[in-house]
Amino acid sequence: MSNNHNESILDVRHLKKYFPIEKGFLRRVSGYVRAVDDVCFSVQKGQTMGLVGESGCGKTTTAWTILRLHEATAGEIFFKTGNSEIVDMAAVEKVRLKEIRRYMGVVFQDPYASLNPRKTVLDIVADPLLNYGVKRDEREARVTELLTMVGLDPSFMPRYPHAFSGGQRQRIGIARALALSPSLVIADEPVSALDVSVQAQILNLLSDLRDELGLSYLFIAHDLSVIQHICDRVAVMYMGSIVEEADTEELFSQPMHPYTTSLMAALPVPDPHKPWSPELSGEVGKPSEKGSGCVFAHRCPYAAQICHDETPSLETKTTDTKDSHLVACHFADELDIDA
Ligand SMILES: Nc1ncnc2c1ncn2[C@@H]1O[C@H](COP(=O)(O)OP(=O)(O)OP(=O)(O)O)[C@@H](O)[C@H]1O
Ligand code: SF4
Ligand SMILES: [Mg+2]
Repeated sequence: MSNNHNESILDVRHLKKYFPIEKGFLRRVSGYVRAVDDVCFSVQKGQTMGLVGESGCGKTTTAWTILRLHEATAGEIFFKTGNSEIVDMAAVEKVRLKEIRRYMGVVFQDPYASLNPRKTVLDIVADPLLNYGVKRDEREARVTELLTMVGLDPSFMPRYPHAFSGGQRQRIGIARALALSPSLVIADEPVSALDVSVQAQILNLLSDLRDELGLSYLFIAHDLSVIQHICDRVAVMYMGSIVEEADTEELFSQPMHPYTTSLMAALPVPDPHKPWSPELSGEVGKPSEKGSGCVFAHRCPYAAQICHDETPSLETKTTDTKDSHLVACHFADELDIDA
């Protein structure tokens, strides 16, 4: 793992993505789903930044907005391309998107749905190359190289996806994501659809590729145990907001936000005498109904009046590590909720 904290490849600042809720025949806008609501984080070069939270908290929307597959409602997304140019993905002219997106590789959750069953492995992996005008013989040479890189035999090239297992398909998906030598890889739940036995192999492959190729990852997952194994730093998201962010070791040894602790309670824990392990009760709130106060107040066992009245800001808390540990909780300093 690289420890270069000085160079961020992606810097997301005060990002918002609101989806209008349209009602009735006239499709009047009756409100907004605040899927991403003032999110800030950065991905350092050579590192893996994790984004974790339950279903519906805004992880995929964050990724799509970074890729400019959604238009941001507000905020900035500074991305350093392979040419070391810094562009704001939220504002850059549309005509430049293709040129910039080649530096962002994407790995999707479902390797069954994301690979076209009618295309051969060669065509699937070569698709981005074709899109960027790479000639046929060069494409084949590059696909040979890519398949070898992800641990697949290049002789698989003429075969179709149905011939492969879930893990092999995800290797094909990773090869495709790397085709244009991206500098940032956005992996949206890349192992969630795979058997647990295969998950570790794919996670190992991803971290080996990161180190070999000097890649940086934005790694999305709903499962903290997956995050723990691959990320250098983690941002915990709840209802469109980041509620806690810290280096992985620090987050797991000293979680400060009650939501993070609740997520950890769902992890298999070796210590049977663990003092506090509430189950998450209730559902994830509706982002469209977010008002003032803490986003987690309706589920938090520690909620007091101030939690309903005032939104806690994401602040640095003093810890014994040099890297900042950010928490958005009025009582972060008082609660003793180490997992
Ligand atoms: N195109 C859209 N139009 C309207 N609402 C949307 C759209 N896409 C997402 N949402 C809403 O935004 C919120 C965040 O969704 P998102 O898919 O980003 O969550 P997620 O954290 O990726 O969840 P999951 O773990 O299920 O993938 C949800 O309330 C969702 O219903
Ligand atoms: S601010 Fe209040 S409701 Fe929110 S996490 Fe902290 S104690 Fe719980
Ligand atoms: Mg998602």
